Amino acid sequence: MKFLITGGAGFIGSNYLHYVTDKYNDDYFVCLDALTYAGNYNNIKDLEGKDNYKFVKGDITDRAFIDKLFCDEKFDVVINFAAESHVDNSIKNPEIFLVTNIIGTEILMDASLKYNVKRYHQVSTDEVYGDLPLDRPDLLFTESTPLHTSSPYSTSKASADLLVMAYYRTYGLPVTISRCSNNYGPYQFPEKLIPLTIMKALNNENIPVYGTGENVRDWIHVYDHNIGVDLIVRKGKIGEVYNLGGHSERPNIEIVKLILKQMNKSEDLITFVEDRKGHDLRYAIDSSKVEKELGWKRTYDFERGIKETIDWYLNNKEWINDIKSGRYKESYKG
Ligand code: NAD
Ligand code: TYD
Repeated sequence: MKFLITGGAGFIGSNYLHYVTDKYNDDYFVCLDALTYAGNYNNIKDLEGKDNYKFVKGDITDRAFIDKLFCDEKFDVVINFAAESHVDNSIKNPEIFLVTNIIGTEILMDASLKYNVKRYHQVSTDEVYGDLPLDRPDLLFTESTPLHTSSPYSTSKASADLLVMAYYRTYGLPVTISRCSNNYGPYQFPEKLIPLTIMKALNNENIPVYGTGENVRDWIHVYDHNIGVDLIVRKGKIGEVYNLGGHSERPNIEIVKLILKQMNKSEDLITFVEDRKGHDLRYAIDSSKVEKELGWKRTYDFERGIKETIDWYLNNKEWINDIKSGRYKESYKG
């Protein structure tokens, strides 16, 4: 089968490509990425030369380009990882989130319909469910929790999800959606909490913790997210939504302290700063549907995953330094 993987130069998409290009020699993977500030060709450089892979630079919001790509390539499966993904950016500049995350999804689905794609998979997020209270650990997001968003980012992702279900119902596009909790692992752009903390700690810079640091996220290793996406795309039921979660709820402050401890750095680097506007309190996922129906199981417990992840960043300082200096923007020679 021929796959289109959008956003494959980003954090989750690049990990996905490493996983599937090794695992499936009989499938072919086309990575499409616009290489925005969050796209880093260094993440996928080592895939060059693989027989079952190629890279195409392009924008999912460019309708004419997408139409020609689909016409030329005749994809069987489309997996849409491409998105503007950072909540803080969405608070400062919502518009690009609406264009990329909603219109981009629509353009990909129009082409999928026109060229008879057999499966369109939308990579979504648990943030579409809004947040849960801190004092109700019994409450978890299920697939039937109503969409109730807080930030322009989560609102754009929820809007895209609704559009995906509308294309299923109205036009019969064969879709699936996965909604995953906070990912961590190799190749994550250091604007997100975990790689940002590691990068700042490496340089002995202050680490900004929003508000009191009590907000809770449910952390999942990116590898476990990706085996879930792969399973859903290959075995999931058309028209269904599947939650994926890490069963690893931690307050932010605990994450930051753990990283500092493993890096032998002082907690004096922690700096409490003004809270994020509309800051979601707690995310927690119930992934029993995908576990029962598709046999998905996470392979990483948080302690092992975070230790390995910190080690990865410490062993790949050049990757971080290229981002810090801006050199990563020249990593694609095209
Ligand atoms: P990321 O920001 O690291 O990567 C996004 C990629 O999309 C980048 O390579 C970027 O260049 C590309 N892109 C952006 N706009 C594009 C466009 N118009 N055309 C083509 N490519 C474009 O994001 P990520 O963390 O890898 O997230 C991937 C997907 O997973 C997103 O849809 C996100 O909403 C979802 N998700 C992320 C998390 C998380 O914790 N990071 C959790 C659940 C779901
Ligand atoms: P982030 O990694 O941006 O992911 P998301 O907002 O999608 O959950 O943030 C994770 C948590 O860490 C969130 O509660 C906000 C908080 N945070 C900080 O306290 N300081 C920071 O510098 C960042 C980027 C996030």
